Amino acid sequence: MFAARKILSDIPSFTWRYLLARTLKVAIVGAGGGIGQPLSLLLRQSPGITKLALHDLHGTKGLAVDHSHICTQVRVSGYEGEKELEMAVSNSDVVVVAAGMPRLPGMERDHLMAANGKVAIKVANAISVACPHAFVAFITNPINMIVPAAAQILKAAGTFNPKRLFGITTLDLVRSKKFIGDHMQINPEAVNIPVIGGHAGITILPLFSQCQPQFNGNASDIEKLTKRIQEAGTEVVNAKAGQGSATISMAFAGAKFVDSLLRALNGEERLVECAFVASTLTDAPFFASPLELGKQGIKRHLDLPNLSESEKQALEKLLPVLKKNAIEGQMFAHNFT
Ligand code: LMR
Repeated sequence: MFAARKILSDIPSFTWRYLLARTLKVAIVGAGGGIGQPLSLLLRQSPGITKLALHDLHGTKGLAVDHSHICTQVRVSGYEGEKELEMAVSNSDVVVVAAGMPRLPGMERDHLMAANGKVAIKVANAISVACPHAFVAFITNPINMIVPAAAQILKAAGTFNPKRLFGITTLDLVRSKKFIGDHMQINPEAVNIPVIGGHAGITILPLFSQCQPQFNGNASDIEKLTKRIQEAGTEVVNAKAGQGSATISMAFAGAKFVDSLLRALNGEERLVECAFVASTLTDAPFFASPLELGKQGIKRHLDLPNLSESEKQALEKLLPVLKKNAIEGQMFAHNFT
């Protein structure tokens, strides 16, 4: 008995975490696309993930075979076409949705709603049937409308859980860290800054007042960098000149966010991520802000910090846009319920 206890206490705590970890299934909808493929590769390295379901209209069966030659324990399956969507997401712990059309030069994210809104509706319906308790994380644009639309569909099906529906805004944080790190000539990974609001133009609000280490530039630097962060998606769309929008950086950001969801599901504590979610922090019904994650989803919305005068003004300007976007998303979904 004593010997057994001794052996058990000799096992390092990280091994315990591994032994006790839940085995998790993640489904990627839109897995064959420019974001989905690198996302699938990055995600299979997350702790606890044992099953990865790849769904797209076509191409994922081959992708799954490609994955199957990688010498790790994750089991990858491919699902194709609308008929296999429910099967793909069935019993998932996390569903990440990257499906849909990317922007072309000259387009705003809102212009994608007509095409991508329908995709989000189908996915939300499939989730309601096949994995109503899953964490659902949307990458598909326009995030500011897609998340309210998906919420509406889930509500109509009686499966909406505001703690478990997320719009991924991590790329705004990733870009902020990089641009600020470059400006301050420090490692971007050492920069921490919350980005609140939404995921389009002026709704993206990096809080320079909260930047760690403290931002060393002046007001004009903050204005220029804020503008660059807000327009960074368009910078990539223009550089790709008709070949789509951010894929690699979005996959990096998406994987980072989903990795945190998986860690939370496995009981890791004090995980804070910004995401676009149902919120009562402001007048906007959906709002991105720092969230503490737990096994059940959002554990706590962190309070908004004290904002600088210019941040307060920027927040005042972005809230009407988010409110309008939420109504547009909900109206869109209403036509399908
Ligand atoms: C991004 O921020 O890069 C994405 O939302 C894609 C886009 O259309 O800008």
